Amino acid sequence: MSEPNQSRPDVHIPVLADEVVRLLEPRAGETYADCTAGRGGHAARMSLAIGAGGTVVLNDLDGGCLDAARLAVEAGGSGARMVGFRGNFADLPRRMAEGGLAADMVLADLGFSSTQMDDAARGFSFMREGPLDMRLDASRGETAADLVNALPEAELAGIIRDYGEERLARAVARKLVAERDRSPIETTSRLAEIIRSVVGVAGSGRIDPATRTFQALRIAVNDELGNLESLLESVERGAMLRRGGSVAGGWLAGGARIGIISFHSLEDRIVKRAFARMCESGLARALTRKPVEATEDEVGMNRRSRSARLRVIELT
Ligand SMILES: C[S@@+](CC[C@H](N)C(=O)[O-])C[C@H]1O[C@@H](n2cnc3c(N)ncnc32)[C@H](O)[C@@H]1O
Repeated sequence: MSEPNQSRPDVHIPVLADEVVRLLEPRAGETYADCTAGRGGHAARMSLAIGAGGTVVLNDLDGGCLDAARLAVEAGGSGARMVGFRGNFADLPRRMAEGGLAADMVLADLGFSSTQMDDAARGFSFMREGPLDMRLDASRGETAADLVNALPEAELAGIIRDYGEERLARAVARKLVAERDRSPIETTSRLAEIIRSVVGVAGSGRIDPATRTFQALRIAVNDELGNLESLLESVERGAMLRRGGSVAGGWLAGGARIGIISFHSLEDRIVKRAFARMCESGLARALTRKPVEATEDEVGMNRRSRSARLRVIELT
């Protein structure tokens, strides 16, 4: 498994930006759909290539990110038309089809942005004292504290094992239940201390022992794997509609290129399987035979890029 992604990015540079542009191959006048607009780094780059006759669709669960992405694209000065959606990318295909938008290129750069990680109040980081929240959309849904304080021990252990690939998942879950019986676990630092008391303390150069359990809870709180699967099903359905000759109702243009950047092996496995299935059934062809990884130079500038894996297909 790739190392779980809990590191702090050093600077904001969109990951694998050159590779995304090279593989998605934006052309003047095309429509680019960014499922995870974040701070708009990829979108700004893509908008320059598609220019004033093109359309940039920006989508993010986080309203603050969506605003930042809009500003970044505007600042690029491409003149491309912008359409913004605040919401889950699992709903983006439907919203685009309803709006009569068909994407020539789609990108999902999964996970969270550095702004979200660095904001202690969002509760993503075990390195910052904050409320145990972890919701990408802070306006709805259960927080990490809700799960940690309410789920049965076996369910907690399952989440920590399956989404964090934590060897000591059962012991961590047992300790969490014992601790929450004393008093509810409400903060990132208390959770991190409890995990470290079971898994041990990191030595130099090793990842923090809290990394895997934090990753697991974030994935569960935001149903990250379910949303990814739903997006990939929509890509497959969109491709089938195209192959069936339907022009109306689809959210993907003929020959659309779809890129997904994942940051841990659970996500990458889902993308790999879905893309392979579409290629085997002749709906798409792979533009990346193996996942594209960041160069040493990029990792030197942005530590987060070390676990990024980009896979791209093109609809046939
Ligand atoms: C790694 S950042 C994207 C960075 C972006 N590519 C850029 O260039 O700045 C991931 C973004 O995806 C958003 N996100 C994660 N899961 C999402 C989902 N299911 N639906 C919509 N947005 C999501 C997060 O809020 C975050 O802003």
